[in-house]
Amino acid sequence: MTMICSRAPAKTILFGEHFVVLGKPALVTAIDVYAKVCIKDSSRIIIESKNLGEKLIKDVYEPKALLPYLRIVEELLNGSKECFHAIIDSEIPIGSGMGSSAATAVAFTHALSRYLGLDLDLEDISKIAYKAEELIHGKPSGIDNTISTYGGFLYYQEGVFKHIDIPWPQDYSLILIDTGVKRSTKVAVEKVLKRYEKKKSIMKYLYDAAEEIVHEAIKALKRGDVESLGELMNINHGLLVSLGVAIPETETIVHESLRHGALGAKITGAGMGGCVLVFVKKTEVRNILKSISQYSKAYYVVKPGVKGVEHW
Ligand code: PMV
Repeated sequence: MTMICSRAPAKTILFGEHFVVLGKPALVTAIDVYAKVCIKDSSRIIIESKNLGEKLIKDVYEPKALLPYLRIVEELLNGSKECFHAIIDSEIPIGSGMGSSAATAVAFTHALSRYLGLDLDLEDISKIAYKAEELIHGKPSGIDNTISTYGGFLYYQEGVFKHIDIPWPQDYSLILIDTGVKRSTKVAVEKVLKRYEKKKSIMKYLYDAAEEIVHEAIKALKRGDVESLGELMNINHGLLVSLGVAIPETETIVHESLRHGALGAKITGAGMGGCVLVFVKKTEVRNILKSISQYSKAYYVVKPGVKGVEHW
């Protein structure tokens, strides 16, 4: 019996979320939390998600939540009648801004294309996964499927992605702390755009500052300047607060983390809930986790810059 498995990483936005929507750059990294998909032989097309507790049997029972994967199936089968059983099993929390749906779509496309003997390159995989993302998010920027496919660190601006070779400072960690407050990226983006329109003459300075932060952060990472990196995260967070996407839960985690030794802490992704990103010396991780335990639903001590989609 053939069984083919692939895994694809989650992401976190280090700098530039929201500002990226109006054409400023963002810096994003792949992290070692994974969506895994295995494909095995079957006499029907079955797609099963362990996380959602749903099972799609083609033409018999097709739950809405799994329809994006059927889009990938149609694309890859291209009229052929082959059958298979796909099992989705992801460590990435849903709706927390870690790119769970894109990572699953990328792992699914990678595994199924290998199972079918198709020789797709990474560009094809990312493009096909994007089609599934469109069904879920409407008009996504494409940042999630790209980082999950290629991995590493990416500089993104107006639809153009550039891989950046950055050595991560060895003695430092990133912690993603989930507030447990689910939010919609769409609602958060709309709120920010409204404020931008209302206060344009002020907001443009914030957007320029955000752009400068991304460029300074890349320089700081390249020279291993951890103090500067932490400070830039804190300034970036201040800008996000000014955009209106902070809530008491994110602020408590940011302030408690900084009070207990973090070099930097910021909202990552859309805000209004979701995760806070904390930059900290490895020796201080336990301290921080203890200090925020009562405020967080879950936490992930993550490794940035990991490889993109691969066999597993
Ligand atoms: O929280 P997430 O992972 O959905 O990230 C949203 C990032 C935004 O910049 C707020 C929106 C976007 O499309 O880039």
